[in-house]
Amino acid sequence: MTDLVVEDLVAGYGDARVLHGVRLSVGQGEICAILGPNGAGKTTLLRALCGMVKARGKVTLGGTELAGRSPDAVARLGVAHVPEGRGTFMPLTVEENLRLGAFVRRGRAAVEADLGRIYTYFPVLKTRLRQAAGSLSGGEQQMLAIGRALMLRPRLLLLDEPSLGLAPLVTRELFRIVQAINAEERTTVVVVEQNAHLALGIAQQAHVLETGRIVLSGTAERIRADEQVAQSYLGYRV
Ligand SMILES: Nc1ncnc2c1ncn2[C@@H]1O[C@H](COP(=O)(O)OP(=O)(O)OP(=O)(O)O)[C@@H](O)[C@H]1O
Ligand SMILES: [Mg+2]
Repeated sequence: MTDLVVEDLVAGYGDARVLHGVRLSVGQGEICAILGPNGAGKTTLLRALCGMVKARGKVTLGGTELAGRSPDAVARLGVAHVPEGRGTFMPLTVEENLRLGAFVRRGRAAVEADLGRIYTYFPVLKTRLRQAAGSLSGGEQQMLAIGRALMLRPRLLLLDEPSLGLAPLVTRELFRIVQAINAEERTTVVVVEQNAHLALGIAQQAHVLETGRIVLSGTAERIRADEQVAQSYLGYRV
């Protein structure tokens, strides 16, 4: 069943158009990877999906129109965005950051239960509850950013370059956890990644974005298998 549908999505900043008619769809509970070179518009695409930049076109999640809504309204409809650079509140503690993630939710008991759930995915966060987010390591901060997003109980999780600045071992662990979250909670995931190999390892579908247009779409398996594709579109081996 299709969950996210994007058609003819046009977005940019002021007069500068960055996305020129993006079309893609993601199945319920699937992981979709967005690959492509620097400046292609990957971050802008995620921002357009969560209402942070003005966009035209059609964006629906489970049939509900998202385009034109505020980020707050999009969050209430179950879209959690982990932005490039993580977006954690550095002076606040780990626990305060996690609780902020549940800002659109009611029901204290459920929020308490969800904190426990986050600690099972990210045990290290439980040992750092009173620590300021700014004093965490890069890997811990990314875990906190994803944990905070999960506090929304999202239907759709948007991840922007989770591997940025992290050591390979930490990145692999993070992707393993994202895969576990997807499998256990059936959360639909759209992940933007420079590390094509890792992203294609957990995704079912992938799209390559170049100067604001999707130039290649297919199963992750096919894109990974096609070395020529990797060379010409991604500029490196996957
Ligand atoms: N806030 C902004 N104001 C104006 N232009 C912007 C803004 N953010 C991004 N852009 C421009 O939009 C284009 C696409 O940027 P975007 O950040 O979406 O690319 P990206 O694919 O995420 O790149 P990277 O891999 O480097 O993160 C670039 O030309 C960039 O300069
Ligand atoms: Mg980016």
